[in-house]
Amino acid sequence: MAPFELRTERLLLDQPVAADVDDITRYCQDPLFERFMTVPVPYSRRDAEYFVSRHVPDGWASGTEYTWALRVAGSQDVVGMIALRTARPDLGYWLGAPHRGHGYMTEAVRAVTGWAFRSGYERVEWECVAGNLASAAVARGAGFGYTGEGPSVLTFRDGSHPHSWHGVLPAPDGEPRPWPGP
Ligand SMILES: CC(C)(COP(=O)(O)OP(=O)(O)OC[C@H]1O[C@@H](n2cnc3c(N)ncnc32)[C@H](O)[C@@H]1OP(=O)(O)O)[C@@H](O)C(=O)NCCC(=O)NCCS
Repeated sequence: MAPFELRTERLLLDQPVAADVDDITRYCQDPLFERFMTVPVPYSRRDAEYFVSRHVPDGWASGTEYTWALRVAGSQDVVGMIALRTARPDLGYWLGAPHRGHGYMTEAVRAVTGWAFRSGYERVEWECVAGNLASAAVARGAGFGYTGEGPSVLTFRDGSHPHSWHGVLPAPDGEPRPWPGP
């Protein structure tokens, strides 16, 4: 698939490019990424260059993973990243620390899942390492239903499948399972 843009009320979702490498490198130093994501640790500029020049284009070309950079409309600066991995399919996302707390990721998740359903996907899964309340709040806010806890489907950098929270969109019919946390 050829990469394409998505727009929301406040955001442009488009391709991460070479000009984003410094910002991606800086944001990926966040200790939360080591705890909650599968990115390399330590994360180097070379990792960001590989991500932008190989990982993202290969994902689009092969149809395995569609990745968008989040930019606040009117600015060229990247504030975060969202990816739809097509095999399950499921979502991955992160925001640079200074850009959290504005609802940007919930808005981006709605845009990407909306596109997925219009394109024929019937469900989109989500998971996070148990305890990642911020990620769960995004999934919940975007309409996912909580389906329970268990090992992650994703393999982490040490080969483990950490205890994780799982959800799905559309939320399953019937009595909703309460989300963990407050
Ligand atoms: C997960 C992560 C992207 C969530 O970031 P976030 O800023 O909390 O998410 P959003 O951009 O959707 O913002 C939602 C928050 O903004 C607030 N907000 C402010 N204005 C808002 C608006 N217009 N609409 C919706 N929410 C708004 C909400 O109250 C919410 O805060 P709350 O969860 O405390 O109630 C971020 O914590 C992160 O990058 N973490 C590290 C990487 C990670 O864990 N990724 C997920 C792996 S599974």
